[in-house]
Amino acid sequence: MNRMLIFCTCALLLGWTASLQAQQLDTLYAKAGASFRGLSVVNNRLLWVSGNKGTVGRSTDGGKHFQWFTVKGYEKRDFRDIEAFDAVTAVILAVDSPGVILRTHDGGASWQEVYRDERSGIFLDAFSFWRDRIGMAVGDPVGGKTILVATDDAGKSWKAIPALELPVPDTGEACFASSGTNIKVLSKRRYVLVTGGRRSRAWVATDGRGQWVELPLVQGGTSTGANGLAVKGSYRKKNVRRMMVVGGDFMQDTVRTGNAAYSRDGGRTWKVPDTAPWGYRSGVTYITGKKLVACGTSGVDISTDGGQTWRNISKTGYHVVQRAKDGRSVFLAGGGGRIARLRW
Ligand SMILES: *[C@@H]1O[C@H](CO)[C@@H](O)[C@H](O)[C@H]1NC(C)=O
Repeated sequence: MNRMLIFCTCALLLGWTASLQAQQLDTLYAKAGASFRGLSVVNNRLLWVSGNKGTVGRSTDGGKHFQWFTVKGYEKRDFRDIEAFDAVTAVILAVDSPGVILRTHDGGASWQEVYRDERSGIFLDAFSFWRDRIGMAVGDPVGGKTILVATDDAGKSWKAIPALELPVPDTGEACFASSGTNIKVLSKRRYVLVTGGRRSRAWVATDGRGQWVELPLVQGGTSTGANGLAVKGSYRKKNVRRMMVVGGDFMQDTVRTGNAAYSRDGGRTWKVPDTAPWGYRSGVTYITGKKLVACGTSGVDISTDGGQTWRNISKTGYHVVQRAKDGRSVFLAGGGGRIARLRW
């Protein structure tokens, strides 16, 4: 009897501490009218965000305080992606025309244009860096070819990828600029990008040659397809096998079909989760080898089995989620100027 009582008490206590330790979001910042889709977490203390109205923010104390900048001359631009290399150096990418990339080397006080594309129809979506130096930026197709520009000096200079190496998208197939994460550079000559619209596919490229792989995501509309890509081990390792794609239909953001897929073979084949995230998702990141977090306008989910099953932890919307490049902290940013930290 006594033993039973002790057992029950222990079980109750265990259950209670487990629920206390459940993943939680701590809101660090919110501002009506602001929207952040760019997020770069350098380490546990240093993070940068970017968004609409020419805004860039930087925190050096893990999100307790933010220093805000409005980039002079770009007050109306929407910076949909940011990559920070340290406390003073970062690059930002503006969507819409003209396509511009800017760089700061003084902590955000001043910005210099390092890339400008005035072609009509230009629309840059996202960029990605490998080892803080090799980078690529992707834009929607112009003249039937995906826009791709590359840097090998941490964004100081950019040049076009040779036309022969460019992915040729289908009619109505493009990229979404919802979280700055639909391209991942895996090494000097290797990258993956994911598309949406009439079709949703992954372009997996090595040494200038690529191939399209169908994604099992909802497609066929103008708001359907892949929005975010996460790879496990991109930052330090060369051998990337595990990948996760999220998306769906942002016009129906609680629909749970065709909104995610994972790969265990470097993007060659993709599987649909057994239990999908709880709606359209724009951002996803690996927290550990098996643990992932995904976010979108309708909420945030966690997977602890490499993307096979998902559990929702919040109905608050976020656009983008990132784990520190050097550290374990995970931050999210989104609409309403919300910035949060995930406790895990
Ligand atoms: C998960 O989603 C369901 C359905 O929308 C909702 O009822 C529930 O409150 C959500 N859970 C959390 C923790 O937000």
